[in-house]
Amino acid sequence: MKLLLDDANIKNIKEVYEYYKIDGVTTNPTILSKQGEKPLEVLKKIRNFIKDDQLHIQVLSKDYDSIIKESNLIVKEYGNNTFVKIPANKGGLKAIKKIAKDGINVTATAIYSPMQAFLAMKAGAKYVAPYINRIDNLGYDGILVVKKIQNIIDANNFDTKILAASFKNSNQVLELIQCGIYGFTCSFDIMNKFVDDKNVDSAIDDFVNDFLKLDSNKKTMIDYLL
Ligand code: E4P
Repeated sequence: MKLLLDDANIKNIKEVYEYYKIDGVTTNPTILSKQGEKPLEVLKKIRNFIKDDQLHIQVLSKDYDSIIKESNLIVKEYGNNTFVKIPANKGGLKAIKKIAKDGINVTATAIYSPMQAFLAMKAGAKYVAPYINRIDNLGYDGILVVKKIQNIIDANNFDTKILAASFKNSNQVLELIQCGIYGFTCSFDIMNKFVDDKNVDSAIDDFVNDFLKLDSNKKTMIDYLL
């Protein structure tokens, strides 16, 4: 099971890595455009920090030859555990066939339908990234789309894994974790909502305050043990 951070802000990445067990970072052109720095430098900083963890970088090219060229350059620059994100439209699917055959890790992105995911799997993508929130916004059911994609994988023994993306709340993530979906990429905001519960903080404060009633000078077990 993989949990990735969908962000390119190095401060956010360092913070999330400090607290959670994270398996890598995903980016897209919109995320990179928000960093106020050249994408090359932003991605280099991320690669240096996350070392050999997965780094997903999306191609901007739309035609076959340029997608192939851009994918190869990305992997050459950012190393082996770099996943090239290719949007799974018709042109993208053609390129995925070639790139996957050449041994490059491909994440088929911008997945809005199970059929798109199926075609990307057939083409050899390592991951398919369905966009839960964006599907919901079109009036469909993003969670259901992910479940259908998982059925396609199971029924046909595909090696491709799901990297669920585009969440608007942590409950959507939790629902899919319970279904055994393989991977998730979540924004910094969503990651922070995972354990953002005032009840938890208040319970912890109650425990500490009760303990202090024993001896207000002994604040933790350390004071008793040393
Ligand atoms: C990941 O592959 C996508 O780039 C990302 O999750 C899209 O998220 P958004 O719908 O919040 O922009």
